[in-house]
Amino acid sequence: MELLKQKILDEGKTVGSDVVKVDMFLNHQIDVDLLCEIGKEFRRIFDSEKINKILTIEASGIGIACIAAQYFSVPVVFAKKGANRNVGDNIYKADVYSFTKGVTTTIGISKDYIGKDDHILIIDDFMANGKAVHGLINIINQAGATVEGIGIVIEKGFQSGGDSLRSMGYRVESLAVIKSIDDGKVVFG
Ligand code: G4P
Repeated sequence: MELLKQKILDEGKTVGSDVVKVDMFLNHQIDVDLLCEIGKEFRRIFDSEKINKILTIEASGIGIACIAAQYFSVPVVFAKKGANRNVGDNIYKADVYSFTKGVTTTIGISKDYIGKDDHILIIDDFMANGKAVHGLINIINQAGATVEGIGIVIEKGFQSGGDSLRSMGYRVESLAVIKSIDDGKVVFG
């Protein structure tokens, strides 16, 4: 998606050779007009009529998923972090290890909001090693629901997440794929 790539080039800030900060339009301040274009693009790519729910993970995924959901006319369910704490039994849980942050988080979704009849589109802001998406798929499998696709705003193609999910047969569509960060400059794949 050219608009998104240009935004990353114009406003993104690289940190070392493997992180790009996009706080000014995606992760802190949010460019809502851009999110609308992102939502329309996800709708264009995932035109399956089967999708009846969008799943994401707090925090940054929520805004993106909600705006995209307007173009699908479906509800959004987001996995909550910290589901290891006193949340009762009515919840599907999965552990997610973050390489970026070096911590494991337990994510959870209430059994009230996901079930075997659901056909789910997963949406998230970043894909690095794909652990967050694997955690969501784990929960979807526990619920007996179906993964229809995975929509990612920015994939770091030099990390393993996208390829590992594609090799498992999932349809992963990323609107911008970063091939590398060379001398502080983002190079798209
Ligand atoms: P993974 O799920 O693909 O394995 O990624 P990883 O654990 O490495 O990423 C942990 C967090 O860092 C995620 O946010 C992810 O979106 C974010 N992240 C990873 N690489 C980058 C990057 O290059 N730039 C930016 N801006 N973010 C990156 P999170 O913990 O879920 O945070 P949030 O959604 O609450 O903001």
